[in-house]
Amino acid sequence: MIKEIKVEDLNPQEFIEQKVKEISSFVGDGLAISALSGGVDSSAVTMLGHKALGNRLKTYFIDNGIMRQGESEQVVSVFNKLGVKVEIIEAQSEFFSALRGIVNPEKKREAITQTFYKEVFGRLRKKSGAKYLLQGTILTDIDETVAGIKRQHNVFAQLGIDPEKAFGYKIIEPLVQLRKDGVRQVAKAVGLPASIFNRMPFPGPALAARIIGKVTPARIKIVRLATAITETELADTDAFQYLAILHQDKVTGIRDGKRDFGLQIEIRCWDSIDARTARPTRLSYEILDRLVSRITNEVPGVVSVTYNITPKSPSTIEAI
Ligand code: XMP
Repeated sequence: MIKEIKVEDLNPQEFIEQKVKEISSFVGDGLAISALSGGVDSSAVTMLGHKALGNRLKTYFIDNGIMRQGESEQVVSVFNKLGVKVEIIEAQSEFFSALRGIVNPEKKREAITQTFYKEVFGRLRKKSGAKYLLQGTILTDIDETVAGIKRQHNVFAQLGIDPEKAFGYKIIEPLVQLRKDGVRQVAKAVGLPASIFNRMPFPGPALAARIIGKVTPARIKIVRLATAITETELADTDAFQYLAILHQDKVTGIRDGKRDFGLQIEIRCWDSIDARTARPTRLSYEILDRLVSRITNEVPGVVSVTYNITPKSPSTIEAI
């Protein structure tokens, strides 16, 4: 049983000192890998690892082909400014082949998990000689996995999986007692910029979690563009998280007076503190109108845009 540190009981500086000590003593004089996605969790963990291990931490950004527009460039530039070298690992075709033909949400997650942990990190471990993987698992990831709601891609021990046996390395999870609000405080205290510590959550399975049905490079391109528009248009709301989802079913639309059997995009925008419960933000019609107009004009093939007004629960934040 993991002991939660509630945000009101968290002293970020003390937490950082303690975790840096723990990482140093685990890894000894060896090497560790950090898999940086640019999200607040993996960024905070990378900084803790960097403080503990310096050059003995190898930080990688896995270009899996399912990230958002400009994501790798942004992440590398933020971390270079902080003195952390990030190597980009090209793995797009590997992820797309693993996802080929899969429709079932949990099977998609599993394909991504296996590709990340077995294939890509397995290779990086061999290449670097590292025996440890630092990972930004937080308590909510574990709760939802154990409850059988969604298998978060980064949870193993609680499912009876020993990463050392399954993948050949040990996993260190310094943030596992915290929830998102606590992680944000640690991220700020460890020197990360606001663009990171305030960054909205983004799922490990990335844009593949925002596609209902098959994940192909062409469908990723569509949801990536809809995501970029949604993130720009909703940036000024104080929402916890906002996202665009590409649906599987097509619907009849009309364009230039002709029938256009086209794609549907669903927008969600959430007010939440810790993602355990969430309510749809009461967006104005002005904002919704602009979103619809931009998405139907700028994203090829989209003839329908909906805004979801169902709270979590019974909805969840992501669609798969
Ligand atoms: P749900 O959809 O379960 O999401 O209400 C709760 C929070 O977790 C994020 N999320 C994920 N994060 N791997 C992750 O790393 C996943 O498989 C995953 N699924 C959901 C989601 O974006 C939200 O912030």
